[in-house]
Amino acid sequence: MASVKIAPSILAADFARLGEDVAAVAAAGADLIHVDVMDGHFVPNLTIGPMVVKALRGIVETPFDVHLMIAPVDPFIEEFADAGADILTVHPEAGPHVHRTLQTIRARGIKPGLALNPGTPVAALEPLIDDVDLVLVMSVNPGFGGQAFIPSQLRKIEAVRRLIDASGREIILEVDGGVNPETAPDAIAAGATALVAGSAVFRGGRDAYAGNIAALRGGSV
Ligand code: DX5
Ligand code: ZN
Repeated sequence: MASVKIAPSILAADFARLGEDVAAVAAAGADLIHVDVMDGHFVPNLTIGPMVVKALRGIVETPFDVHLMIAPVDPFIEEFADAGADILTVHPEAGPHVHRTLQTIRARGIKPGLALNPGTPVAALEPLIDDVDLVLVMSVNPGFGGQAFIPSQLRKIEAVRRLIDASGREIILEVDGGVNPETAPDAIAAGATALVAGSAVFRGGRDAYAGNIAALRGGSV
């Protein structure tokens, strides 16, 4: 089996040196750059917008995995597409017509993703499985980095794994929130193929990033 993809969440990076930190984490082996976009309304925190994605996009070749925690989401799809997102992930609660939102993303040549909050059932994904290239299972309630992994979400990861396998399509199963070397093995065993990690990657200074990423994959550098 291919090794799990690691998607460092730049929410935990040094915002005063964001470009340098993104370059450092890419050089340290990140497979995706995970960008958490929050609006202070859909989730109780405010982060960054398309201008920052655009500014960072030129710094590395690594694909940008943009997690939109904003509502309404539709008015911003175009801007994030123009900014250079490679994957755009939305929450089903972030607009009245999530199927249309996913199609709009795909029509722009970007991979559409659907995020499931801890309280959102897998049933929300079922009618949309053919319209997504990524499923993001939230293992914390969205809004903040540094929270503890919610173990009950492991059953959901397993259920999503079965749905993806039955679809016969290549769909990334990404897990986001509280992922560290202790919780990563359970997420991988449940069927995750990509792990988002903020605090567990951006700790210990830049020299530690490669080791931190390797530890999430289950090995050392
Ligand atoms: C939470 C975000 C996560 C978060 C992960 O709303 O979607 O990506 O930053 O941070 P850690 O790995 O610190 O839980
Ligand atoms: Zn995220």
